Amino acid sequence: MKKYAAILLAGMMALSLAACGGSGSGNSNKEEAAPAETETVTEETGTDAAEAATDAAAGTAAEFTTVSEGELHMATNAAFPPYEMTSDGEGYATDAAGSVHFEGIDVEVAAMIAEKLGLKLVIDDMEFGSVITSVQSGKADMAMAGLTVTEDRKQNVDFTDSYATGVQVVIVPEDSDIATVDDLAKDKMIGVQDGTTGYIYCSDTVENGGYGEDHVTSYTNGAMAIEALKAGKVDAVVIDNEPAKQFVAVNEGLKILDTEYIVENYAIGISKDNPALCAAVNNALNELIADGTVQQIVDKYINAGE
Ligand code: ARG
Repeated sequence: MKKYAAILLAGMMALSLAACGGSGSGNSNKEEAAPAETETVTEETGTDAAEAATDAAAGTAAEFTTVSEGELHMATNAAFPPYEMTSDGEGYATDAAGSVHFEGIDVEVAAMIAEKLGLKLVIDDMEFGSVITSVQSGKADMAMAGLTVTEDRKQNVDFTDSYATGVQVVIVPEDSDIATVDDLAKDKMIGVQDGTTGYIYCSDTVENGGYGEDHVTSYTNGAMAIEALKAGKVDAVVIDNEPAKQFVAVNEGLKILDTEYIVENYAIGISKDNPALCAAVNNALNELIADGTVQQIVDKYINAGE
């Protein structure tokens, strides 16, 4: 698992220079100055993105389109507290029908971004494995789901700057003989959420730092993986740290291992065909980070009472 931390760290550093498809303000000149061996289409896209990013940074209204006029559709999987979950009260946004209410760090930050862009936030709740494809296929505007930036995912969507970090942790029953991540290799069955980085790491080959496909069972969401753990169907669950804390808090007899961790970056994924929207969302996000709004929202859900 250590190996991944290093890879992700490298990815993270690349990301900070390359939000929204590699047109970070620092290297836009380089990109425009080196068109020779670049295909025309790619070159144009890059330049558009660079211009959009510059416009957004300068506070001018970069033109962007959304899938439904006046709305910002957020593809998410709202079974991931404290980032996104359904709300018993009003919440901070609803689904398209207006009948289901949502709350959580991502939902609140997204609502603030939408407000800055003059749009109404709409939540498209789906399985986690669909959030990126729904953005790629133009059904939703942005994927925001405690979504970890990975090199593979960067092939499919552009990411904004990161607004939070996540850590993959291991949940086991209190009386488990699993004490470290290495113990997971001892013929244990690991429960994960389908399509997540937890799944990707754990199902990878032993040579690559994983445990092999045969040692992993995927569940539709974290809560189902936890149920399987309680029922003894799996020996451990690998999931992001903040949801892990929430699941352990409401389920007796479980604990989080204090062992090696994989640190990841969460960011918003946006279609590669919509660089102007990516720039506008990224700009709004950075304003909310700079003025402390994001931290306030995080504190409300995570650090409160600690
Ligand atoms: N951070 C992990 C990933 O990106 C898990 C995210 C799961 N999110 C959710 N809303 N269920 O793969």
